[in-house]
Amino acid sequence: MTAGDPADDVFSALAARYWHPVARSVDVRPGGVVGARVLERDLAVFRAADGTVGVLDDLCAHRGARLSAGTVDDACLRCPYHAWSYDRDGRCTDIPQLAPEHTIPGSARAEAFRSSEHAGLIWACLVDESRELRPRPTWPVTETGTHWLHVGAVYEWNAQAFRQIENFCDVAHFSVLHADTFGNDEQMEMEPFPVTTRADGYGIAFDYAYPSRDPTVEVGPGQKRPVVGTNFEYRLELPFTVALANASGPGSVMCIAASPTSATAMKLFWLCAFPLGAEVDGDAYEALEARIWLPDRAIVEGQRPERLPLDLVEELHLPFDRLAIAYRRALRAIGFSIAGGPVAMSNVPGSNASGRSD
Ligand code: FES
Ligand SMILES: [Fe+2]
Repeated sequence: MTAGDPADDVFSALAARYWHPVARSVDVRPGGVVGARVLERDLAVFRAADGTVGVLDDLCAHRGARLSAGTVDDACLRCPYHAWSYDRDGRCTDIPQLAPEHTIPGSARAEAFRSSEHAGLIWACLVDESRELRPRPTWPVTETGTHWLHVGAVYEWNAQAFRQIENFCDVAHFSVLHADTFGNDEQMEMEPFPVTTRADGYGIAFDYAYPSRDPTVEVGPGQKRPVVGTNFEYRLELPFTVALANASGPGSVMCIAASPTSATAMKLFWLCAFPLGAEVDGDAYEALEARIWLPDRAIVEGQRPERLPLDLVEELHLPFDRLAIAYRRALRAIGFSIAGGPVAMSNVPGSNASGRSD
C-alpha cells in the first residue's frame, strides 16, 4: 500500500472515534500550553489557572497562527500573533484590536475537543459524544489509592499503532530480543496458552507464565541474570490500550496507549503502577524500560507491511501467536479494514455501507 491509500483513510476515520492520550498531565502545568498531534490533526493542549484542561485545534481563526505557541491568561488561550483569546470551548473571548462597541463575530472560533485526565495523562476525543465508539479507556489500578504511579517518557515511533500494540503483547520474542534484560535465552520453547476475547469484542485477555530473568541485577560478562519468573497478565482494551500486570514486579501494572499521530505513526504513552511500599527509583526504572523499548522500536519500525495485516492468510501464525490471531480478528470485527482487501465497516455503529461515512 502507498501513502494516501483508502485503507489509511478508513483507519483514521475509525481511530478518530476513540479516545487517545495527547500529553502527560505533568507536562501541562497551570498556565501552560503544549502542541500535540492525533491522526494528523495538530492540537493545542492548555491548562487554565484553576487546573482545568482545554484542547483546541492548533489554528487561530484569524490568520492561522499556531495557538500552541500562545499564552494562557487565566482560563483562556491567547494567540501569539494578534492576541485573540479563546476559552476551552473554542469561543473567542477577546479581540484586543476591536473597539468595545463592536461585538466579537460568532465565526471567531477555534474548534474545541472533549478532553479528560486519567492516569497522569490528558486524553482527547476528536469526535462528539454521539459519534464516539467507546468511552475513554480506564485503568482502575491508577485510582484505587493502592499504587504509586510512574508516568514514563513519551516515545514517538514511526510505526502503525496496531503493530506496536501487537509487539507489546508478543511473548514469543522475549527470549530473543530481550535476552539482555528480562528475557531468558535458555527458554525458547513455548507452551500453548489460552486467549479469551470478551463478548463485546473490545477486550482480550491472556496470562503467560515465563521464567524471566531479573533485569535490575548487574552481571559480569558471560554471566546470566538470576531467574525470577513472572506471570504476565495481559488485558487489552481495543483498539489501542493494554494493561500488563506483574511485568515490573509482583502486583505492578504497566499501562500503555498507542496514540496514533497518523495511520502509520504513533506516540507511545505508558505508565506503571507499583503497589505502595514497592516504589522504585524513577530514573533507574525509566532507564531500564528505555533499554527494553529500544530493540522493540527498531523491530517494529522495520516491519513490513507497515499496516498490520488483518487477513489471517497474510503472515504465518503458529500456536504461540494466539494473541496476534485474536487481536487481528477483533480489529477486523470492529471495522478496521483488511489490508489490500475490502473494507469491513458493517459492525461500526453509524457507518454506511461504503464504510466512508466519516
Ligand atoms: S492569527 Fe491569531 S490573532 Fe491573528
Ligand atoms: Fe519487546
